[in-house]
Amino acid sequence: MSGADGRKPVLELRNLTIKYYTLTGIVHAVRDVSLVIRERESVCLVGESGSGKSTIGLAVAHALPPNARVSGQILFRDEDVTKLKGDDLSKYVGRKVSIVFQDPAATFNPLFTIGEQMGDVIRHHRGVKDKEEVKRISIDLLKKVGLPDPERVLKSYPHELSGGMLQRASIAVALSPNPELLIADEPTTMLDVTLQAQILDLLTKLKEELGLSMLFITHNLGVAAEVCDRIAVLYAGKLLEEGSVEDVLLNPLHPYTRKLLECVPRAHAKVQKLRHIPGTLPDPRHPPPGCPFQPRCDEARDECSEMPPLIEVRPGHRVACVKYLSKGGE
Ligand SMILES: Nc1ncnc2c1ncn2[C@@H]1O[C@H](COP(=O)(O)OP(=O)(O)OP(=O)(O)O)[C@@H](O)[C@H]1O
Ligand SMILES: [Mg+2]
Repeated sequence: MSGADGRKPVLELRNLTIKYYTLTGIVHAVRDVSLVIRERESVCLVGESGSGKSTIGLAVAHALPPNARVSGQILFRDEDVTKLKGDDLSKYVGRKVSIVFQDPAATFNPLFTIGEQMGDVIRHHRGVKDKEEVKRISIDLLKKVGLPDPERVLKSYPHELSGGMLQRASIAVALSPNPELLIADEPTTMLDVTLQAQILDLLTKLKEELGLSMLFITHNLGVAAEVCDRIAVLYAGKLLEEGSVEDVLLNPLHPYTRKLLECVPRAHAKVQKLRHIPGTLPDPRHPPPGCPFQPRCDEARDECSEMPPLIEVRPGHRVACVKYLSKGGE
């Protein structure tokens, strides 16, 4: 299956469902999510805290904790990676797919230099053994992520770098195996605004230069607009809307997406009031049977007690809301 412009899917989630088994019950973190990321495309998962964004990222990277159970399919270049084992699994994890986390300090072991840690990844995932070659690749990657004086960075310990430098270094580590898909889970949340903008610019530039596909995770639609081609809106583990950045931002269909958009701070507003959507996500141990946003939705109706399917309202723009089930929608 290729897109309109002939780009092949790199990642395809089919009816992905993920539950966490805990002592206090089963957490329904991701519920029946289907989504495609094509070659050189970046897709943003957007939603409030607890909506299941990181769970999807970890599932794709094969890094879920042991209490998670996955059903449905995660197809990487048409191969179901949920079934991979042994050598096939280690060829996939870290080589085809890499992940950048919110806290760059968590990527690094504080006891080893950046160079030692990058060297390990390059030796292990690229199979490069020659010391000089490993160093050359490391320096090249540190230059790519815009770090000045890469020789010095290689000799530094993680605590010797600033937050912004460390996030750049962790992106360099994620790129060292030459992945096809980069997952970035809130990579700028812990940085100040200027650094945030720099890292977003860097990721956009790298995606273009290296021809990467990207799964970008954020709770901020404004950030999604900066870096992504398409946006997928997640709520209580359900995909509620998906479309191009233009479709979702300029013509949001789901009442939840509209509320999320109202929460994006506006640069020209005279008074900056921090907005939030009143109410909270449903208890993930007992998700309601119908639309999960119904209890907070101004437009809720009786029919919302049943979960509507995702329907394609325009080519490439899908929404799961009863308003659009009848012909003509609104
Ligand atoms: N290891 C775990 N065991 C049990 N429940 C978990 C575990 N990890 C996450 N959860 C729960 O799964 C749901 C989805 O969590 P997830 O971390 O995927 O959300 P998120 O959208 O990434 O949120 P945030 O924006 O806060 O990072 C939440 O209810 C969370 O409490
Ligand atoms: Mg998260």
